[in-house]
Amino acid sequence: MAATDLERISNAEPEPRSLSLGGHVGFDSLPDQLVSKSVTQGFSFNILCVGETGIGKSTLMNTLFNTTFETEEASHHEECVRLRPQTYDLQESNVHLKLTIVDAVGFGDQINKDDSYRPIVDYIDTQFENYLQEELKIRRSLFDYHDTRIHVCLYFITPTGHSLKSLDLVTMKKLDSKVNIIPIIAKADTISKSELHKFKIKIMGELVSNGVQIYQFPTDDEAVAEINAVMNAHLPFAVVGSTEEVKVGNKLVRARQYPWGVVQVENENHCDFVKLREMLIRVNMEDLREQTHSRHYELYRRCKLEEMGFQDSDGDSQPFSLQETYEAKRKEFLSELQRKEEEMRQMFVNKVKETELELKEKERELHEKFEHLKRIHQEEKRKVEEKRRELEEETNAFNCRKAAMEALQSQALHATSQQPLRKDKDKKKVGGWSSIYSVTIP
Ligand code: GTP
Ligand code: MG
Repeated sequence: MAATDLERISNAEPEPRSLSLGGHVGFDSLPDQLVSKSVTQGFSFNILCVGETGIGKSTLMNTLFNTTFETEEASHHEECVRLRPQTYDLQESNVHLKLTIVDAVGFGDQINKDDSYRPIVDYIDTQFENYLQEELKIRRSLFDYHDTRIHVCLYFITPTGHSLKSLDLVTMKKLDSKVNIIPIIAKADTISKSELHKFKIKIMGELVSNGVQIYQFPTDDEAVAEINAVMNAHLPFAVVGSTEEVKVGNKLVRARQYPWGVVQVENENHCDFVKLREMLIRVNMEDLREQTHSRHYELYRRCKLEEMGFQDSDGDSQPFSLQETYEAKRKEFLSELQRKEEEMRQMFVNKVKETELELKEKERELHEKFEHLKRIHQEEKRKVEEKRRELEEETNAFNCRKAAMEALQSQALHATSQQPLRKDKDKKKVGGWSSIYSVTIP
């Protein structure tokens, strides 16, 4: 026998022996103690409603809990999907329930719906992360911690009678490992009975063929195994919501009244509302809470801790040491930090070199530009100089011509100033003749 096998046998705990009691001791009251403790502590239940705007989410919540929650009608113009949680304190008999309803506002309203599931996934993960952080605290207070982890996602399917939209399939697929999904066909009064039957079969077929895991009501507890098995076959529930009360016979019932008749919300021949309420609230609320903790949260926690470097020891190796894991992770972190630092330093040096080269190139370009401009300037200067010289020559020539003209003019003037005397004499002669003519000519 190998040494490790021997070790395992010696470490194995001995089987407890069964003994019978001599009389009543009192620990049979343990379940009652648990109930009493839980009742004092109160319960929390968190529902996520996913479905397109106006599909009837708020009406169904009001109908399910027989009250009026605060609602705010969503517009069709949200830029992206937004999660809106609202928490209420409810009381039934002596049981307190902290109910949180989270609405996925604006779901399906965007032109590009590729990322519509992301805010929902992020919200669910954030609630898991908050719980994990509380768990990892040295001084943790999980007892009075307000657990906001989503226990169930009611996925509202539009009653088209055709097939599921790809948005529905993608969203449910992204959510199925994180939350218990219960698909429901909303506004089931808008679809005929035969169409509804085919629609249900089609939806289930599509979910199966796309590998979407929806929540199955548990059948391992004998007390509810039968009813849960029957109800599993009715999925997805086709529901009608209404807070309006209509008189049917001599009873006031919640219903939707139409010109051709009344759809009663709680009439199982009309819709599956009662089935949903039974399964969600009366029979499986605790299972939904438990599945959230033991399946979905556990998966999140495992992945997160593995990501952080924690590992469970397998049977043969040394037991898991938090100290060693922490040291290993610290070393890994430091070497990663060093690598990043070195990378950044190298990047910085390269950047400086690149910038230096760029600056040198710029300097060379500037110098060339300067030389070019200098040449142009000299050329211009030379041309201007030439022009100035030509102008000077022209001015000199002009001045010469001007002086010559002036000389000529003054000569001419001199000459004309001698002429009037002679002219006067001539004039007198002519005047004499003209006076003779003026007499002779009539
Ligand atoms: P937003 O929060 O704005 O996205 O809407 P919602 O999904 O909460 O829908 P809401 O409950 O406000 O209902 C929208 C309209 O649908 C209202 O006029 C309701 O009366 C109507 N409605 C709700 N449930 C049903 C139903 O089961 N059948 C029919 N025919 N109409 C319903
Ligand atoms: Mg609403």
